[in-house]
Amino acid sequence: MSEAGAALDVLLTEERRFPPPEHSRKGAVVADRGPYERAERDRLAFWESWAEELDWFEGWHTVLEWEPPHAKWFVGGRLNAAHNCLDRHLEGPRRDKPALIWEGEPGDTRSFTYAELHAEVSRLANALKGLGVQKGDRVAIYLPMIPEAAIAMLACARIGAPHSVVFGGFSPEALADRINDAQARVLVTADGGYRRGGVVPLKLNSDKALEACPSLESVVVVERGEELSRGIEVPMTAGRDHFYSDLVAEASSECPAEPMDSEDLLYILYTSGTTGTPKGVVHTTGGYLTQVSATTKCVFDLREDDVYWCTADVGWVTGHSYIVYGPLANGATVLMYEGAPDWPRNDRFWDICARYGVTVFYTAPTAIRAFMKWGERWPAKHDLSRLRLLGTVGEPINPEAWMWYHRVVGGGRCPIVDTWWQTETGAIMITPLPAVTTTRPGSATEPFPGIRATLLDDDGNEVNAGFLAITEPWPSMMRTIYGDEQRYRDTYWSKWDGIYFPGDGAKYDNDGYLWILGRVDDVLNVAGHRIGTMEVESALVDHEAVVEAAVVGKTHDVKGQAIAAFVTLREGVDGSQALEGRLREHVVQKIGAIARPEIVVFAADLPKTRSGKIMRRLLKDVAEGHRLGDTTTLADPAVVEALQMKYGGEED
Ligand code: WTA
Repeated sequence: MSEAGAALDVLLTEERRFPPPEHSRKGAVVADRGPYERAERDRLAFWESWAEELDWFEGWHTVLEWEPPHAKWFVGGRLNAAHNCLDRHLEGPRRDKPALIWEGEPGDTRSFTYAELHAEVSRLANALKGLGVQKGDRVAIYLPMIPEAAIAMLACARIGAPHSVVFGGFSPEALADRINDAQARVLVTADGGYRRGGVVPLKLNSDKALEACPSLESVVVVERGEELSRGIEVPMTAGRDHFYSDLVAEASSECPAEPMDSEDLLYILYTSGTTGTPKGVVHTTGGYLTQVSATTKCVFDLREDDVYWCTADVGWVTGHSYIVYGPLANGATVLMYEGAPDWPRNDRFWDICARYGVTVFYTAPTAIRAFMKWGERWPAKHDLSRLRLLGTVGEPINPEAWMWYHRVVGGGRCPIVDTWWQTETGAIMITPLPAVTTTRPGSATEPFPGIRATLLDDDGNEVNAGFLAITEPWPSMMRTIYGDEQRYRDTYWSKWDGIYFPGDGAKYDNDGYLWILGRVDDVLNVAGHRIGTMEVESALVDHEAVVEAAVVGKTHDVKGQAIAAFVTLREGVDGSQALEGRLREHVVQKIGAIARPEIVVFAADLPKTRSGKIMRRLLKDVAEGHRLGDTTTLADPAVVEALQMKYGGEED
């Protein structure tokens, strides 16, 4: 049986059931199936009722205009995302409620009430205006997990300048590509950030990137801390670079929020696809904010006194939707942590949960598997009794990890929401609701109310196991790929007519629960991060020693998948261990450490079909140490046998 088939069998014989615990039902945001029924009867009215929860400067005249593959939501409406995340909370008691509580890796802390966050965002917004940023101009943000990351996003939103946040772990080249694609005018970065005790030199990285960025005019440099800046170089280019503290010190804390059209761009966020270049996913304002705020409230069953912690980085969509826009639109208290979970020890997360009384905790399966590996004794050291709800996102969670999370972190009392969604969907799409859904370990269960999903085969027939498909537009859907409308159509809308193709495979069990099985395209999921095999291949062939490269995922017990690279070298170059190391570092330099190949195999030839297509399936078999699949279509079957001999023996 194939590996995927065997894994499926295990999933589908999963008998454990977890009905919502009694305590979760009292006062729940969603306490019964009412919203499902309402959304079933009238999907648009359902979403409209959530849009009405936001503050609009001007109402919409049409809920949805749908000309596949283009949707416009709340057409004619005007609002501002930062106003909705800040200003509207200033009227009542939320004014002095902590909006953002932050802890740095070295243990320093900062906290902002809604009033304080509003003032700081307004000051930076004015400072950006002072640098010439106008409505519609793109601003790149390359920051560690510090409050200024959220502040910069909201400052951009406030003045209607779309932000493009670039994960701080990306290399200078990756940063440059993203700045250039978006034609950003301003970059907000920091001198550096802490990670696992070390310092990430973001300003130095930025300077390297900017050598190749002609559109960029100004750089704002956040000072992460005196101690940090003593340890690294922070060169400043006169006329271009400005310290954040200097700019905001002079700026007024009065900055009216720009009334934005519901369909005006809120942000661009780059994500990996099946080609070598990342895609700039475009999100707009009204629909996005409607769905992120609705899902935050319902899925996390948000209560006024919650301390909500999502461990994602703001560089990924989870940080955008569920650290910044969703929770702040709901007036929540958001916890943010700068560093690694194992710094200085393996209990850092549990220590934080206990000290701040975290009630809602949202993380990724890869983190949970690392916690499992480190052992129960780490969470056991801390009082986790304030936790009442747990969430996961980013990849399929294996039932064993789910059970561990439930028992060890949740003390057996916390419902778990396994939330399926994507950068492209903007917000949660498939998920349990904690006081309503009986969960099954490993299943994302069912679509959120107002979301229509099904499973289809290549021809668009409904099937029990096949491709996940979203059959109706939803408010927070991506609007296009920035500057590449054709790629938008080809990637997501060409498989079926007017139906969105997310690129995931899935299956129903006998009771109609959805089980997401993973990507069906050439996109890997390494520690919850999407990485295109083509991106890594392009980075490898960019090295002078390499003629050809093929990258596949290999099962990894913590990361889910690890990167295995098969590389053909130029004539006369020897595949030494030193070269292996150099190739790994070359990929890190081109993309970032998240894309570092775990395995590099030098191959005289790569297995190809007679038409010259590389057979990744066979390379995957080689990397996994499996028996070889069907090799009859190969141009030269001996190639793969030779590779297998070289890489390792067979197992069943
Ligand atoms: C995967 C992250 C199974 C999936 C929000 C999707 C999941 C990709 C889940 C999007 C889940 C995300 N169960 N798989 N709960 N959540 N995925 O764009 O393959 O970084 O297509 O967005 O992650 O990754 P992205």
